[in-house]
Amino acid sequence: MFMESNSQYHIRKMLAGDIPQVMEIDLDAFPDQWPHPTSNSFQHELRNKLAHYIVIYQESSAASGDDGRGVIGLKEVVSYIRQLFNRDRFGGADNSNYGRERLAGMAGIWMMFDEAHIVTIAVRKTHKHQGLGEWLLLNIIDLSMQLRAKYVTLEVRVSNTAAQALYEKYGFSRAGTRKKYYSDNGEDAVIMTTCELDLPSYQDRLQRLKEDHHSRCSHCCAVHLMKFMEY
Ligand SMILES: CC(C)(COP(=O)(O)OP(=O)(O)OC[C@H]1O[C@@H](n2cnc3c(N)ncnc32)[C@H](O)[C@@H]1OP(=O)(O)O)[C@@H](O)C(=O)NCCC(=O)NCCS
Repeated sequence: MFMESNSQYHIRKMLAGDIPQVMEIDLDAFPDQWPHPTSNSFQHELRNKLAHYIVIYQESSAASGDDGRGVIGLKEVVSYIRQLFNRDRFGGADNSNYGRERLAGMAGIWMMFDEAHIVTIAVRKTHKHQGLGEWLLLNIIDLSMQLRAKYVTLEVRVSNTAAQALYEKYGFSRAGTRKKYYSDNGEDAVIMTTCELDLPSYQDRLQRLKEDHHSRCSHCCAVHLMKFMEY
């Protein structure tokens, strides 16, 4: 059951000005990972023609406090100042909404031949269990189809049962294991993959999941991501 939220979430392509908040989300979602991606690595990703990143955001009247009561906390003020500071360094001209958007989640893929490989997907801890992770995945799958991927694949920690449940819901199955894949603790990775995305049975499943998500998550804006993307 999803938590109630009065805030409307939107989704769009990640922009350079998002990097400070994307780094916050990354640190929040993967606290034990080492090394953490730097702002340079995200900037590099934005220039990488094979990489495609999306973010979920709330506009600030709703996003001003994690508790949803409209109180601006120290964290938000610090984040706002950091965004202003980073505006020039990260090429803020492509994002006119500095300080007015609070990011709640992000995801990215690399397109490799006919395969879209999910490199990251994460929701802020304070925004979990509202259907946002699922919304990111839905949009990543749609984006992958738009980019003519045949399959979507990923690696996930053996211990990460929450993420595995999400992927299984979307028809990913286990394709193998990469031993000691994660350098921080030597944990194995499970390789997961969809079937061919254009199979009618998969398209039917996806359509049903979209309708179900839409009916449960009215806080996720119904406007389709691809309207905002220029691929
Ligand atoms: C994985 C993650 C993105 C899910 O995001 P979320 O917004 O909390 O998930 P949602 O509310 O959209 O839940 C969607 C589905 O995910 C699964 N799920 C999410 N949290 C779960 C949990 N704690 N236990 C079991 N299943 C869970 C369920 O299948 C759920 O569907 P349901 O509501 O029909 O049961 C989020 O937990 C996260 O950011 N984790 C840290 C980063 C991470 O591990 N990323 C994956 C790297 S491979």
